[in-house]
Amino acid sequence: MRLCPLEALLIVALLIVALPAMESPAQPTNYDEARVPAYTLPHPLLRADGTTITDAAAWWTQRRPELLRLFETHVYGTVPGRPATMRFAVRSVDPAALGGRATRKEVSIYFTATDERPRMDLLVYVPNDRSGPVPAFLGLNFYGNHTIHPDPGITITDQWVANNDDFGITNHRASEASRGVRAHRWPVERILERGYALVTAYYGDLDPDFDDGFRNGVHPLFSADGQASPDETAWGAIGAWAWGLSRAMDYLETDPALDARHVALMGHSRLGKAALWAGARDERFALVISNNSGCGGAALSRRRFGETLAHINTRFPHWFNDVFPRYNDREDALPVDQHELLALIAPRPVYVASAEDDRWADPRGEFLAALHADPVYRLLGTDGFAAATMPPVHAPVMSAIGYHLRAGAHDVTAYDWERFMDFADRHFGRAGR
Ligand code: GCU
Repeated sequence: MRLCPLEALLIVALLIVALPAMESPAQPTNYDEARVPAYTLPHPLLRADGTTITDAAAWWTQRRPELLRLFETHVYGTVPGRPATMRFAVRSVDPAALGGRATRKEVSIYFTATDERPRMDLLVYVPNDRSGPVPAFLGLNFYGNHTIHPDPGITITDQWVANNDDFGITNHRASEASRGVRAHRWPVERILERGYALVTAYYGDLDPDFDDGFRNGVHPLFSADGQASPDETAWGAIGAWAWGLSRAMDYLETDPALDARHVALMGHSRLGKAALWAGARDERFALVISNNSGCGGAALSRRRFGETLAHINTRFPHWFNDVFPRYNDREDALPVDQHELLALIAPRPVYVASAEDDRWADPRGEFLAALHADPVYRLLGTDGFAAATMPPVHAPVMSAIGYHLRAGAHDVTAYDWERFMDFADRHFGRAGR
């Protein structure tokens, strides 16, 4: 067949447009346990120089700092501290919210001396039925604070939000139509009833979740020339979300209604990855919960089951640092694996929740990470992980490292929350209340 120049040009143009799209889904996904490659995990107590840590002091002074640095350098990127100019502004207080059950506060955290964005807006519910400061759950949300409950008093976010036809979000602007659309993931009344406060913020306040070369969100605040991604170990979006959780904690420490020494950090999915990284770095979080966090969260990378590093770094190039993609299809070369992220939380309780049908997040890989964090938890004097084999569905493990496998899909359900609160009750000395 002979092509005229115009036809030939059209074919070339079509190929240029179509090729990249054809390349990305080409990453095969393994859901077959028999095809998980043989692998050797790095031992969390084995230092880079080949010596093994045998006492708690050496964990704190040598191995923990070394592991934190490895995760910064190879996975999540380096994270700045608290800006000197940061300040809090209480925007609204309703002492009789939710039919009198709670006090609702909205508090803005300004990161600079001006009132310009970026800033993070916290939504705080404190149970009115309390005799002193209460423990709290803290977690970021995906679509704005107003989506976690139909409460008409919650301010609708004016930040960039991912479009969602189901929630009536178009042009990246949320409206009344999305009020309460994520309420099923946040059983606010039940949390209050069990004696906890709930604190949440919209993750897009910290970094809108798309790859823009770090021009929006908090990243530019920390680069002198506005060039937000100065080197390959610079933080990505997960680093920014985790950093924001620590800034939320800065506020919680100042609120007399809250017991800042008993704050449980909870995150789902990509926000579970951020919760684990925040909990690993910031020892003020008394307890950390990962819900279905999967690849780059609680699941072992070396198993390559479900989502792999190649998948995640291709679809979400802005989540991690620029070193992490070098391990795509080379997981064995990574100097760390995700059980060591859990170990960095020790001896503080950590809970890993999986869902049976959420194979993309590799439930077994999440269980195994919990299992292999055990030596550090035991070295630091806790009961470690009280399971040697993967428990069946709905048989939670409640040792210092907790775990459950729930029936059903990738989501946060009432069952998950009840277990999170059981776990917090137990480790905050509230069991039997
Ligand atoms: C995608 C992504 C996961 C992530 C999830 C989520 O499925 O591949 O890594 O956890 O989104 O955040 O919902």
